[in-house]
Amino acid sequence: METKTLHFLSLIIISLISSSTSYSPTDNYLLNCGSATNTSLYNRVFVSDASRTGSFFLSADRSISLADQNPSPNSPALYHTARVFTTPSSYKFNIKKNGTHLVRFHFSPFAARGFNLSTAKFSVLVNGNVMLNDFSTQVVVLKEYIIKANDKMLEILLRPVAESGFGFISAIEVFSAPKDFIVDYGAKLVSADGIEEYQNLSLHVLETIHRINVGGSKLTAFNDTLWRTWIPDDDFLVLKTAAKRVATTHTPNYQSGGASPEIAPDNVYMTAQQMNKDNATLGARFNITWDFPVGSSGVRHLVRLHFCDIVSTSLNQLYFDVYVNDLSAYKDLDLSTLTFHMLSSPVYLDLIADSDDLGTMRVSVGPSDISTSLKINAILNGVEIMKMVNVLDSQTGYKKRRIWIVLGSIFGGLLVFSLVVLAVVLLCKCRKQKPKPRRAESVGWTPLRVYGGSSHTRLSEVTVNASPGSNGYHSLRIPIADIQLATNNFDENLIIGSGGFGMVYKGVLKDNTKVAVKRGVPGSRQGLPEFQTEIAVLSRIRHRHLVSLIGYCEEQSEMILVYEYMERGPLKNHLYGSGYPTLSWKQRLEICIGAARGLHYLHTGSTQGIIHRDIKSTNILLDQNYVAKVADFGLSRSGPCLNETHVSTGVKGSFGYLDPEYFRRQQLTDKSDVYSFGVVLFEVLCARPAVDPLLAREQVNLAEWAMQWQKKGILEKIVDPHLVGQIKRSSLKKYGETAEKCLADYGVDRPTMGDVLWNLEYVLQLQESGPSREPRVNGNANAQELPSPSMVPQGSSSDDAGAEKDDGNGVSDITTSKVFSQLMTNEGR
Ligand SMILES: *[C@@H]1O[C@H](CO)[C@@H](O)[C@H](O)[C@H]1NC(C)=O
Ligand SMILES: *[C@@H]1O[C@H](CO)[C@@H](O)[C@H](O)[C@H]1NC(C)=O
Ligand SMILES: *[C@@H]1O[C@H](CO)[C@@H](O)[C@H](O)[C@H]1NC(C)=O
Ligand SMILES: *[C@@H]1O[C@H](CO)[C@@H](O)[C@H](O)[C@H]1NC(C)=O
Ligand SMILES: *[C@@H]1O[C@H](CO)[C@@H](O)[C@H](O)[C@H]1NC(C)=O
Ligand SMILES: *[C@@H]1O[C@H](CO)[C@@H](O)[C@H](O)[C@H]1NC(C)=O
Ligand SMILES: *[C@@H]1O[C@H](CO)[C@@H](O)[C@H](O)[C@H]1NC(C)=O
Repeated sequence: METKTLHFLSLIIISLISSSTSYSPTDNYLLNCGSATNTSLYNRVFVSDASRTGSFFLSADRSISLADQNPSPNSPALYHTARVFTTPSSYKFNIKKNGTHLVRFHFSPFAARGFNLSTAKFSVLVNGNVMLNDFSTQVVVLKEYIIKANDKMLEILLRPVAESGFGFISAIEVFSAPKDFIVDYGAKLVSADGIEEYQNLSLHVLETIHRINVGGSKLTAFNDTLWRTWIPDDDFLVLKTAAKRVATTHTPNYQSGGASPEIAPDNVYMTAQQMNKDNATLGARFNITWDFPVGSSGVRHLVRLHFCDIVSTSLNQLYFDVYVNDLSAYKDLDLSTLTFHMLSSPVYLDLIADSDDLGTMRVSVGPSDISTSLKINAILNGVEIMKMVNVLDSQTGYKKRRIWIVLGSIFGGLLVFSLVVLAVVLLCKCRKQKPKPRRAESVGWTPLRVYGGSSHTRLSEVTVNASPGSNGYHSLRIPIADIQLATNNFDENLIIGSGGFGMVYKGVLKDNTKVAVKRGVPGSRQGLPEFQTEIAVLSRIRHRHLVSLIGYCEEQSEMILVYEYMERGPLKNHLYGSGYPTLSWKQRLEICIGAARGLHYLHTGSTQGIIHRDIKSTNILLDQNYVAKVADFGLSRSGPCLNETHVSTGVKGSFGYLDPEYFRRQQLTDKSDVYSFGVVLFEVLCARPAVDPLLAREQVNLAEWAMQWQKKGILEKIVDPHLVGQIKRSSLKKYGETAEKCLADYGVDRPTMGDVLWNLEYVLQLQESGPSREPRVNGNANAQELPSPSMVPQGSSSDDAGAEKDDGNGVSDITTSKVFSQLMTNEGR
């Protein structure tokens, strides 16, 4: 009995897990063609194509339903029937969700009733674009296309070629791809002319040619989130002895912005090929190379490479190079910078390249020159190769295609137009605010990330302009003796923090000013010029909500920065885990507003547009009066301690706060700070860390978890229990919306810090000035015990939420103008 119950329970648990992780497409059409019955394959039901469900239509006047009389016992029932067409015929599907769709055609030829399907020859068009031209097959074939559907209808047209007189199809799948399955930027075009970013990828029709589980076994639709098939790589290895399989039993650490289980299933990331170092004849450094035949030469393909570092024992060990068709695509690739400091975290890289003269796509990975002798290695976990179907080249379907092209160019044009507008706006902004951009990628003492600057030569320019003589920051110089006195000669008991640059000490200067003293590791690799540049920049930044630089010291090969001391330490300690008295909602809002002001100033202030790059609750400090100040916009965190050239790509930022766009563009912008700030907003509301690995999987990442509740409109369920009864509904609503906007997937969709600031002030006004009878948020102190949000019945609390139907601006019971006038008088706006 007991074991039965247990078994039953575990079944429930398993089904809960699988139901919460499996992907369910918005549009999902699975047709069993030529059959009067439904049949299932890999747990999916393919419905009879004769059934009229109202959401798809078959228009085939003279089509024939054909059944195989002697089906092979191994073939699935889906392949025992086919629809045969003697005239052009079409399937039309209602599309509910715009965007990328997967379209699959199954062909399983057999002979029956005088039709030998192996002799059929026909074309297949999707929305007027030729996918298959004069196609015929004598074996079972599955063709997969990735297509952007922007019309309400998707049409699949089958057209027999005159000589055979008929065509056929066994099964059709049309379903919505997961969000961001194909993104429009981030792909790299690799050609003999060099590397450039490739845009509008999703506008292309892609045909899957290869899908390879490198170092692993065959995966079928059973094992894959999108019912794909992955095959092993062995047959494609140019030199089999160069590669050695490696596998892990740990499931991958998926991170938002990296690869997701829909991009490729766990199994792909849990196996890989690495360099086989057992064979001495290969030498110390060699490539692993795969040749993938693609059937046509000089044709553009998307090569999607999947990586997950399952070979390293610690971060920043593995540096390798990636080549496509012998052209360098990535040099000194360090996966731990892409996955922000996490091992076994899946990522993928999209490359665009042309097939070579022999119709081959060659992929190689090999050790980087900078990898140290013990750690020489290179890995690859998966490859997908998709042909970029040149729909414009086809000779048929001309008229429909024309309409399609016109539509395409209208929407394409709109896209381009908005991109141009955006670019112009950004450009103007940059021009205005950043007359002297500094070098963009730097470490050591120059971590200030300046939007748009990238040239290394600029460093000297700034150094010259900001030399001590010309702007007088000399006055900030503090003698080493004074600092020794202030810190009791760097007394270990006064250490209040540490970082890659060294230690932070608490100290008191001779004039009784309390200070925080950051002392660079004596004799460390950071150079004096960078240090000076740093001081030149930091000394010019003065703002009530930024921790200011009080002085510096560069005597006796010391590099020391002295900052104002923040009595109450990091915001984080006041939210959870430290036992400090809890902050009220109003206090929290004021702190967020202060931090937003500081950040807004960094982005747009008189000095330069500066990107903080590491906004988190430990970098927002509180003074005696709980005034928030943003800290650490000056100093770099520890970079990998290799030579300087490679660290230029070292990431700043912290796990859980990092802009998901970073994964794709590998570039942080001021909107990355906005994203991180959005995470802080939820941290402040929910009083839990941005990442808590001890929680259930769907709760680990605060940004993802909170967004699920926010999207369902029941954010009140997860607010800090200490705030229950304090927050007014309108205030919470606006706050939730503001945080949600900050967390938009794409930087362009996020507000500026100026907008965030304005919105937070509004939130405070809503909290302060509404009538006192306004309903308060009751919250749910047991939020942690709730099942995952997907299991909460949709709209279960819509009735509470409905109590405050408003005008969409979150203003329900006070007029906007009232709020506006109050804001006008607010200091400091
Ligand atoms: C096949 O499935 C569809 C959708 O689930 C259903 O509407 C239809 O009645 C089924 N047809 C048969 C013959 O079972
Ligand atoms: C069908 O056609 C193929 C190719 O022409 C041929 O090899 C096969 O024998 C034919 N099958 C039958 C049953 O006629
Ligand atoms: C989908 O795309 C069509 C045509 O491009 C457009 O008219 C329609 O508004 C879009 N629908 C949604 C929900 O975006
Ligand atoms: C794939 O799915 C099949 C059927 O469920 C299972 O037997 C097999 O072990 C799975 N393979 C992997 C690698 O998970
Ligand atoms: C080592 O590699 C060479 C090719 O470089 C190959 O001929 C040889 O068989 C390999 N030896 C072993 C033991 O795999
Ligand atoms: C790896 O292949 C690339 C491209 O063909 C080549 O330039 C490079 O020298 C190779 N590296 C090694 C270590 O053989
Ligand atoms: C794709 O984007 C580029 C750059 O934004 C633009 O020049 C080009 O016209 C776009 N192509 C289409 C088809 O929209």
